[in-house]
Amino acid sequence: MGFGVLGCCCVLVLTIFIQPLPPVSSQQPNTDEFYVSDFFTKMGISSPTGGFRTSICSWTGVSCDDRQETVIKLIVPGLGLSGPIPDNTIGKLSKLQELDLSKNVITSLPLDFWSLGSLRSLNLSGNHISGALSNNVGNFGSLENIDLSDNNFSSEIPAAIGSLETLRVLRLNNNGFQGTIPADILNCRSLVSLDLSANLLTGSLPAGFGAAFPYLRILNLADNHIHGRSMDLGGLKSILVLNISRNAFQGSVIGAFHDTMEVLDLSRNQFQGHISQVHFNWTDGWSHLAYLDLSENELSGDILHSFGEARNLRYLNLAHNRFSRQEFPPVRGLSSLEYLNLSSTSLTGRIPGEIMRLGSLEMLDLSDNHLIGEAPFLHGRNLKVIDVSGNNLTGEIPTSLLERLPFMEKYNFSYNNLTLCADGLSTETLRKAFFGSTDTCPVAADPRMFKRRSDKNKGLKLALVLSLSMICLLAGLLFLAFCCRRRTHLWAVKQSSYREEEQISGPFSFQTDLTTWVADVKQANSVPVVIFEKPLLNITFADLLSATSNFDRGTLLAEGKFGPVYRGFLPGGIHVAVKVLVHGSTLTDHEAARELEYLGGIKHPNLVPLTGHCLAGDQRIAIYDYMENGNLQNLLHDLPLAVHATEDWSTDTWEDDEKNNGIQNVCSEGLLWTWRFRHKIALGTARGLAFLHHGCFPSIVHRDVKASSVYLDHNIEPRLSDFGLAKVFGSGFGEEIVRGSPGYSPPEFSCLGDKSLTAKSDVYCFGVVLFELVTGKKPTGDDYPDEKGGNLVSWVRGLVRKNQGAMAIDPKIRDTGPDKQMEEALKIGYLCTAELPSKRPGMQQVVGLLKDIEPSSSS
Ligand SMILES: *[C@@H]1O[C@H](CO)[C@@H](O)[C@H](O)[C@H]1NC(C)=O
Ligand SMILES: *[C@@H]1O[C@H](CO)[C@@H](O)[C@H](O)[C@H]1NC(C)=O
Ligand SMILES: *[C@@H]1O[C@H](CO)[C@@H](O)[C@H](O)[C@H]1NC(C)=O
Ligand SMILES: *[C@@H]1O[C@H](CO)[C@@H](O)[C@H](O)[C@H]1NC(C)=O
Ligand SMILES: *[C@@H]1O[C@H](CO)[C@@H](O)[C@H](O)[C@H]1NC(C)=O
Ligand SMILES: *[C@@H]1O[C@H](CO)[C@@H](O)[C@H](O)[C@H]1NC(C)=O
Ligand SMILES: *[C@@H]1O[C@H](CO)[C@@H](O)[C@H](O)[C@H]1NC(C)=O
Ligand SMILES: *[C@@H]1O[C@H](CO)[C@@H](O)[C@H](O)[C@H]1NC(C)=O
Repeated sequence: MGFGVLGCCCVLVLTIFIQPLPPVSSQQPNTDEFYVSDFFTKMGISSPTGGFRTSICSWTGVSCDDRQETVIKLIVPGLGLSGPIPDNTIGKLSKLQELDLSKNVITSLPLDFWSLGSLRSLNLSGNHISGALSNNVGNFGSLENIDLSDNNFSSEIPAAIGSLETLRVLRLNNNGFQGTIPADILNCRSLVSLDLSANLLTGSLPAGFGAAFPYLRILNLADNHIHGRSMDLGGLKSILVLNISRNAFQGSVIGAFHDTMEVLDLSRNQFQGHISQVHFNWTDGWSHLAYLDLSENELSGDILHSFGEARNLRYLNLAHNRFSRQEFPPVRGLSSLEYLNLSSTSLTGRIPGEIMRLGSLEMLDLSDNHLIGEAPFLHGRNLKVIDVSGNNLTGEIPTSLLERLPFMEKYNFSYNNLTLCADGLSTETLRKAFFGSTDTCPVAADPRMFKRRSDKNKGLKLALVLSLSMICLLAGLLFLAFCCRRRTHLWAVKQSSYREEEQISGPFSFQTDLTTWVADVKQANSVPVVIFEKPLLNITFADLLSATSNFDRGTLLAEGKFGPVYRGFLPGGIHVAVKVLVHGSTLTDHEAARELEYLGGIKHPNLVPLTGHCLAGDQRIAIYDYMENGNLQNLLHDLPLAVHATEDWSTDTWEDDEKNNGIQNVCSEGLLWTWRFRHKIALGTARGLAFLHHGCFPSIVHRDVKASSVYLDHNIEPRLSDFGLAKVFGSGFGEEIVRGSPGYSPPEFSCLGDKSLTAKSDVYCFGVVLFELVTGKKPTGDDYPDEKGGNLVSWVRGLVRKNQGAMAIDPKIRDTGPDKQMEEALKIGYLCTAELPSKRPGMQQVVGLLKDIEPSSSS
């Protein structure tokens, strides 16, 4: 009964305390409640979680004793407390046992701070406290954990730290502590974890350092200037993690390291002597070792051949030592190995095949050795980094490795005698992507060339770009495998790569029939649109958005090979076609801009002028003068009037109103159906192409000459479009462009790879266009008399060879000019489409030949 009554009273009393009371009355001076709320107020926190009105003991992070009067724990990390801690605040919490003020912006401690004699755990990590650490820290006689890491403490570590005999965790790392480590620290015999790393400590370790800490499991002295010897660390009976990296330890590595060790980092010191002095007996002791870094020392001798059974070893770095020339050490037993770095360790001979059985391997660095033979044949799923640069490896880079590249972060084959005759990549790409290319085969991949940009936050996109490039590389290889049998399936590659693109998410996402593209643009009106001839116009991506109604499908002109094309009016009434180069390029923004600017400077009456550009996030946008009268593909094959209204193979589809606008201008004049007109287009196109080949330096190979690349301007003058884009457009997709469009692929594209990519390939494609102009037929898909599965080229060439070219002439133009001229035009096309590139005339010659058959104005 008595208990019951008492209990009731307590509840009553408590209730009164917890009831909301006016702040002032709840914070009577000289109560913990007052000190704590004063602390928060003065440290810039106006209303801590829970509010001032409730009892302090119910505040988040505050714990009180059973009587709910005294604060015993204050755990408020990352609350934004800033400035110096004033006197008469937390320094007065006489019973405080645990204080965690980590990750705030505290700049100094008050004098009365050192009277917190009951403290067991103190965490001030991650603040801005500067100056010396007071010797008064010795007052904290019950302290078990002290974490002052990541501050700006300077001066020496106070000797008084030695009075903290119950200390188990001492973390002073990442400060500016100077001088030697005080010998008094040896009194802290209970230490389990000691981290003094990343300070400015100098001098040698106090004598007997190792033996002083029988319970020490974690010791980190890394990144100081400590002089020492491995012997100083002897006697650490319980040690699991030892890190003395980046100091000035010298002498041999002998007898120092206990069998229980799991992590041993001795890197970047001046250890000398034979590596066998490091007690490597994996079968016996050391079987716990998971991490061993001896890199950047001066160790000599042979790497021990007794790695044999280190089944737990995941990380092994022996790089940059002075080992003698030796064969590759056996790695068979290292079944858990994830990281192997033997860079610059004087290895000779071949890379053993057993390395490919290390299924967990993520990182392999064998750079700067004298290895010979073939590149390792790795197929581990986990491999992310491989560096075999600076060896004498020969042969081809194994395809098993090539297939992994898109999933990897880094690879370097430079400075070997390796070859990578990757037919799927364009010569241009290879030259850029590989160091030391020979004329025939490139050597040594430069990974940077496969990365669009070094933007760290775009790992996903990077991976995507890499995968896309690889998809195309693989597709290219596959294509080669099937090339002689099938030629038309590359379009599938394009479609699937577009689909990949859909997974990218960004602020602006645009959808067309075939593609989704994304402009990762944070602020549309801060991304400039460059109009070459009007540099003072202040146009931004936001203007492009409004000109194209946010790249609405209604403004879509075409789904071109490089991406969608939109139509719009920019401010100032500039009528433009906006071409989004959907796929990634290996060019940096700067390079792409320069390239586009160069293209913008190329002017010819038979070329569609590039008006400007915009680099919107990852997308490169080319802006062209709008061509009022459509393109040749539409005129010849897509018009409702056209006789051969068969399936549309083209990727370029025009909106209906487009067909009825410009194109009808041409039709209504009946122009299209005259030999004169067809000849004019042929000659103009030839002139444009000849200018690219012979009038530009360096000369430009168009790579995609076809009817839909020939546009007609307001004067119905033909103009070739899309020249030079392949470069801006990107690497891995090179081969897709190289293959040409269906029906336009020169024979050399099918089997030889891209080495053959020359101006003469353009000449072939021009020949096809010329055939189209004279016959009115499509390059593929139309019915060709006497020929099943044939194409325009084989059909016309067959007829010309038999001197029956006249039969191929488009009936619609037959009576609009002399047959002789049209037959002659077919003969020019015949020359252009010669099997051997060397047999084809140059474009200047073609221009000459076409001029010879120019219809006189009277005809
Ligand atoms: C101190 O706080 C930091 C950040 O809140 C934390 O990461 C660290 O582990 C703490 N130190 C100790 C010894 O608990
Ligand atoms: C750290 O302290 C030093 C002087 O001890 C001072 O020069 C430096 O600016 C301080 N750094 C920060 C980040 O407060
Ligand atoms: C050793 O400490 C340095 C500096 O703090 C750090 O960079 C390195 O990763 C540490 N080594 C291990 C094995 O943790
Ligand atoms: C390794 O330990 C085994 C078992 O204790 C012992 O037989 C062998 O001699 C040791 N080898 C070396 C190189 O110390
Ligand atoms: C291999 O170790 C060396 C020396 O420590 C280092 O410079 C290099 O970056 C390491 N390689 C990799 C791939 O981590
Ligand atoms: C590669 O081999 C050549 C010829 O045998 C030799 O001169 C060269 O030093 C070797 N390079 C390396 C890195 O071992
Ligand atoms: C590849 O290795 C070579 C030689 O070791 C080096 O010069 C080059 O910078 C490395 N390239 C990359 C991208 O790491
Ligand atoms: C490179 O390898 C080829 C064979 O793959 C060999 O003929 C040539 O001598 C090697 N060059 C060097 C410098 O070792």
